Amino acid sequence: MSPLDFTVEELENLFSLANDIEHNMDKYAQKCVGKKLATCFYEPSTRTRLSFESAMLNLGGSVIGFSDANSSSASKGESVSDTIRVISCFADICAMRHPKEGAPMVAASKSSIPVINAGDGGHQHPTQTLTDLLTIRSLKGEIKDFTIGLCGDLKFGRTVHSLINALVRYPNIKFVFISPPELKVPDYIISDLNEKNIEYKEVISLDEVMSELDFLYMTRVQRERFFNEEDYVRLKDFYILDSHKMELAKKDMLVLHPLPRVNEISVDVDDDPRAAYFKQVQYGVYVRMALILTLLELV
Ligand code: NCD
Repeated sequence: MSPLDFTVEELENLFSLANDIEHNMDKYAQKCVGKKLATCFYEPSTRTRLSFESAMLNLGGSVIGFSDANSSSASKGESVSDTIRVISCFADICAMRHPKEGAPMVAASKSSIPVINAGDGGHQHPTQTLTDLLTIRSLKGEIKDFTIGLCGDLKFGRTVHSLINALVRYPNIKFVFISPPELKVPDYIISDLNEKNIEYKEVISLDEVMSELDFLYMTRVQRERFFNEEDYVRLKDFYILDSHKMELAKKDMLVLHPLPRVNEISVDVDDDPRAAYFKQVQYGVYVRMALILTLLELV
């Protein structure tokens, strides 16, 4: 299941639970004793996989799984549908990452246990979005009335697609899309924004819009989704956020990034109090704990 299947109200419950977990970890330490999480990762990941594993271990549960397609039976030609039927006999819940768009959804339709989409190709990354929303909510108090700039690879960046998808449901959010022309937000997202009458603009220059933003969501150029290395090399350092650029921003603007960072945020920004990307990682664990508890109906 995709966490974006939740209504805004259900998400509020999830975030309240995540905040309670943050402040009362001990209360939740035994909630998943005897339960197993399978992490089925057909594509490399450190953060998301370890975040899920850490979430389950914090809940007293255990973890099985694989971290690349070559160490699973996919390398023997097994289909995702068969793999999930097998995994359903071993585990109570599964987090799946796959390079093919829609693969976790196919798996979910064949599975007797909840399957969480942990990133499918260039499509969606719903649990990163839960992380982003929880970060915004926790650091700003609410999810409404702000302008968010999304900068970098808006074409292939699945975290961006999921985040826009989620934020359109909240009141008075304005979007500023900052990318080179080759890496613009896909048309289907723009059509959706037009249909919903949501305010947005597309620009190339980050400097030009910096002072308008309440949040700046930086992203890495997604090398693995490019068809040729030349284009990647040309575009990879298009944006570099550094302390000089931060001087143009509001005093309370927050910088988010799903990580891993390559060059797009210079390390001299890390000490700026507006840099929230490492806090974001911590919120990711709390929200995944809340998600596991909710899907296993343990709350
Ligand atoms: C993101 C992803 O996998 O899409 N990373 C993550 O899950 N934290 C972003 C990225 O890889 O650039």
